[in-house]
Amino acid sequence: MLITLLNLLAAALFIFGLKKLASVKTARLGNQLAAAGMALAVVVTMVHVTELSWVYAILGILLGSAVGAYAAQKVQMTQMPQMVALFNGLGGLASAFVGIAELLPKAQLYLSMGHFSHHQQTAIWFVAVVLSVLVGGLTFTGSLVAFAKLQELISGKPMALPQQQLINAGLGIACVVLTILGLAIFSSAGWVITCVMFLLVISLVLGVSLTMPIGGADMPVVISLLNSYSGIAGAAAGFAVGEPILVIAGAMVGASGIILTQIMCKAMNRSIANVIFGGFGAEDSSGGGGEYKNTKSTSAEEAAMLFDAAQLAIIVPGYGLAVAQAQHAVREFANLLEKKGCKVLYAIHPVAGRMPGHMNVLLAEANIPYEQLVEMDQINSEFKNADIALVLGANDVVNPAAKTDPKSPIYGMPVLNVEEARTVIMVKRSMNPGFAGIKNELFELENTLMLFGDAKKVVSDLNEQLKQL
Ligand code: TAP
Repeated sequence: MLITLLNLLAAALFIFGLKKLASVKTARLGNQLAAAGMALAVVVTMVHVTELSWVYAILGILLGSAVGAYAAQKVQMTQMPQMVALFNGLGGLASAFVGIAELLPKAQLYLSMGHFSHHQQTAIWFVAVVLSVLVGGLTFTGSLVAFAKLQELISGKPMALPQQQLINAGLGIACVVLTILGLAIFSSAGWVITCVMFLLVISLVLGVSLTMPIGGADMPVVISLLNSYSGIAGAAAGFAVGEPILVIAGAMVGASGIILTQIMCKAMNRSIANVIFGGFGAEDSSGGGGEYKNTKSTSAEEAAMLFDAAQLAIIVPGYGLAVAQAQHAVREFANLLEKKGCKVLYAIHPVAGRMPGHMNVLLAEANIPYEQLVEMDQINSEFKNADIALVLGANDVVNPAAKTDPKSPIYGMPVLNVEEARTVIMVKRSMNPGFAGIKNELFELENTLMLFGDAKKVVSDLNEQLKQL
């Protein structure tokens, strides 16, 4: 009874934690609540499981905590997707191991009552074991490939064998056949275990063959999807070992991962199928993107004079800001403008950067007050009142083609209406396109001025100029 109540408390902490993560203001508390829930779940499980090897459990906890603490300190914000990929992968592998560790000692015992399919309970148990192995294995290798692509250990280009889809379909069918054999045909533990081991090998291959054909630039979406898979594998492992708290935690990770994937896809106006099979953003985006005519460029000195006269300035951060690590310079820039009586707001596009919440995290790092961070739906009506919009390393999220050109690959993606500001200053290093690899007609508009250079350098120059005015 006490164990059930404590597990319930842990589950409630997960739910409240997740809820608090929804806002920047409460996210830190949310994280702490969820972590407390997990610590409680671990302690409760260790206390009530009878056949526990305390030495191994404590060693595991110490090792895991050390790796987690090290990673939290060392990993750069821009490397977060890779870190999440690794953690997802290890979660998947752990679930696969739990499934196998559950199967090995119990297979013979359960089979003595007949095929697993003969009894509802053993049938559910076996399917849960198979799912934890299959989804866990696939998540492991899929996440390793995603990690390697993002870390540039392997090429980010889509790599597929001839007839890749056919091969994947064949592997999928083999999984179904092996599951049926283990569930309803084989009656010896040896054969059933062999089936599950084959399933493990196929799932490891599937993880690679499903992820390799996806371009490196789409990896953040894939990682979010794999995050969901790691939750599903965890929930299946929870069913297999009869631990409700693992089922709850796994289901929450599975559901939130799939919701996040959908949000990311919707904000990019793409379907999950398009991400997995589309190869969008895979082409080399260093060149191309179309010819530009009649663009105007400006200097930090000229731009600073425009800012000096502005009443309302909207800063639009994008991927380039994260690359340049210009957030602290931006904070100083905003302070200088505010001292001169200019109101400063930040326009936050849901998929600016390369991971969900990328801009919020980046700007929070420089202690930019979150009241000034305005979501796209609210800020879009403000651009027409703005004297100046400063686009810092953003490109696709301010591309008007999403609204005007039905042939554009980003057509339909909601974008920021920066062109409505009196003046738009585009800060980037060259005329190269952004993630989607397409031309941006914003650069050619009458009210747009290009200010070329690394975002951090440009903002620092602006700061110097503003101080002199
Ligand atoms: P992008 O469209 O990728 O444009 C970034 C721009 O930053 C580039 O045009 C680049 O131009 C410039 N840049 C790069 N390094 C710079 C530096 N050091 N200083 C100044 N500028 C620099 O970025 P965005 O507007 O943020 O859009 C994000 C894109 O990523 C969207 O297409 C979105 O769909 C996609 N995506 C987002 C996510 C999430 S969840 N956020 C996940 C997957 C994909 P130069 O090379 O000329 O400098």
